[in-house]
Amino acid sequence: MKKECRKAVIAGNWKMNKTPAEAKALIEEMKPLVADADCEVVLCVPYVDIPAAVEAAAGSNIKIGAENVHFKASGAYTGEVSAEMLKAVGVEYVIIGHSERRQYFGETDQTVNLRTLAALNAGLKTIVCVGETLEQRELGYTEALLKYQTKIALTNVTAEQLKNVVIAYEPVWAIGTGVTATADQADEGNGFVRAAVAEAYGADAAEAVTVQYGGSMNAKNADELVSKINVDGGLIGGASLKAADFSVIVKAASK
Ligand code: PGA
Repeated sequence: MKKECRKAVIAGNWKMNKTPAEAKALIEEMKPLVADADCEVVLCVPYVDIPAAVEAAAGSNIKIGAENVHFKASGAYTGEVSAEMLKAVGVEYVIIGHSERRQYFGETDQTVNLRTLAALNAGLKTIVCVGETLEQRELGYTEALLKYQTKIALTNVTAEQLKNVVIAYEPVWAIGTGVTATADQADEGNGFVRAAVAEAYGADAAEAVTVQYGGSMNAKNADELVSKINVDGGLIGGASLKAADFSVIVKAASK
């Protein structure tokens, strides 16, 4: 399978931004701008925005995602939300293992794996994030780290379930910093992720899996990034909060 056959996914990650009313307004603004997209368009929003976002996106090509999910089905886990709950309110995608969760909320490779399994078992699509810190890159561990994170995240994920997995390569040093990986660095990182999938599932599965780049992707650099052979779209933070910028990125991935 060639890059052209893989579905590019452009996913916004709103992080801790927007009230439900603001979410509705932003989605209404985005809908006509991305209506012609030839890629998957996803907006991952804060939990409380989900009902408003699902309602605003109804009938459009925008899919709604969450930014995290707990790995247990129910129980005494104050503050957490299960995969079934997300499904019940119309969520289709969920981001798992974002570096901010790893950095600030104790997320580990093992819990990323548990969340991935819970989400897939509930019928959600996952956007699993992997990425190296600047220190790890400078020490020369990027390839080993990306392969390790990818393989642990996918432990016990079946080949059939892999079809519902998107992986986002997000170098930690490029997230929210305005420093973007060069297109070649993005392509190389995504290639390491794809190689890990090949080692675990075989070449065909690796060719078919969608691997996004994330980290300061914006309206100006999206074209070059998504033109790379291993880059199947992007996970977009800051630029997904502006309808015009986000739609330019969607257009870049639709070419
Ligand atoms: P950024 O965030 O585009 O603001 O760098 C990307 C992400 O965190 O997914």
